Amino acid sequence: MRANYSLLTGILALFSLCSTVLAQSWPADPKLSGNAFLSPGLQQLQADAQNSPVSLWLDKGQQQWADATGGASCKSCHGAPQSLRDKVPTFPKLAPTLTGSPGALKLINLEDQIVACRTRAGRLGARLDDDDVLSLSALLHNEAKGLPINVQPVREQMPAWTAHLEAGTALFAQRLGRINLACVHCHEQSVGKQMRIDVISPGNPTGFPIYRMSWQKLGSMDRRLRACYSGVQAVIPPPGAPELRDLELYLKVRANGMPIEGPSIRR
Ligand code: HEC
Ligand code: HEC
Repeated sequence: MRANYSLLTGILALFSLCSTVLAQSWPADPKLSGNAFLSPGLQQLQADAQNSPVSLWLDKGQQQWADATGGASCKSCHGAPQSLRDKVPTFPKLAPTLTGSPGALKLINLEDQIVACRTRAGRLGARLDDDDVLSLSALLHNEAKGLPINVQPVREQMPAWTAHLEAGTALFAQRLGRINLACVHCHEQSVGKQMRIDVISPGNPTGFPIYRMSWQKLGSMDRRLRACYSGVQAVIPPPGAPELRDLELYLKVRANGMPIEGPSIRR
């Protein structure tokens, strides 16, 4: 009884927030990126290459790219970061696991690949949420800015790829947490509505990694998705959890053709 009551108040609170009518009306085009929902002040900050907090992360990414302390540098194997420009819009992809059973395929995103390369070069213990990994992700996304997202299956991997995509598609529609809402309820059915300090966008994956003002640092798609799990009071998956990769695959396929805009600023 008590549990039901708190669930009900949670849902009511959420919907009263969601239905707050804004003075400004927001468009509901499913192909809009999160940038379209930023306040004018944040849009200005984002456009200001010198003063944007993102610029510090890009500087750090440049340093990391050439850094050879603790293992071979990215540069020593890959040359200039531009050489990976075309690869950025193709993640997540199925890759042979670097640690697991030989021949097995694992769905990895760009940050997973960076962690794998850092580990291979001898930096054991590299983790997805490390500042080094995030700054390298920012650097590579910045190189790829403007390129269309291009996530496609490889012919030989078709069955496994399709299974991951179907899992991600199902997850997007699955109700989660004590609030009992699915991604689709917010990012398709409530686009343009205000929720606390945010305006709900279609949840396109074009702007990552993001510098979120409320985090005061750069964060990955993983972290954002985990924040959405937290928002519906669901059990939060750990960084790199398979369901987060399946969701990323679904979001990227849904956004195929949209330009990469990351790294970018969010509330
Ligand atoms: C209760 C509503 C709600 C639910 C349910 C929800 N989100 Fe979100 N999500 C938000 C809000 C609010 C934001 C921040 C504003 C925005 O960009 O939409 C956000 C942001 C995002 C973003 C970042 C968009 C950007 O450009 O910065 C992605 C991607 C995303 N959500 C995906 C998901 C996925 C996948 C699910 C399901 C696991 C989900 N969300 C469930 C409310 C929700
Ligand atoms: C010792 C050589 C080596 C170093 C050092 C190295 N990489 Fe790699 N990298 C590779 C190889 C080999 C591949 C091919 C895929 C695989 O085997 O993982 C690769 C693949 C990649 C890819 C994906 C390219 C594609 O075709 O999809 C990215 C992105 C990447 N590396 C980033 C980095 C970053 C960032 C660093 C620095 C932290 C780094 N790499 C350091 C060898 C290296």
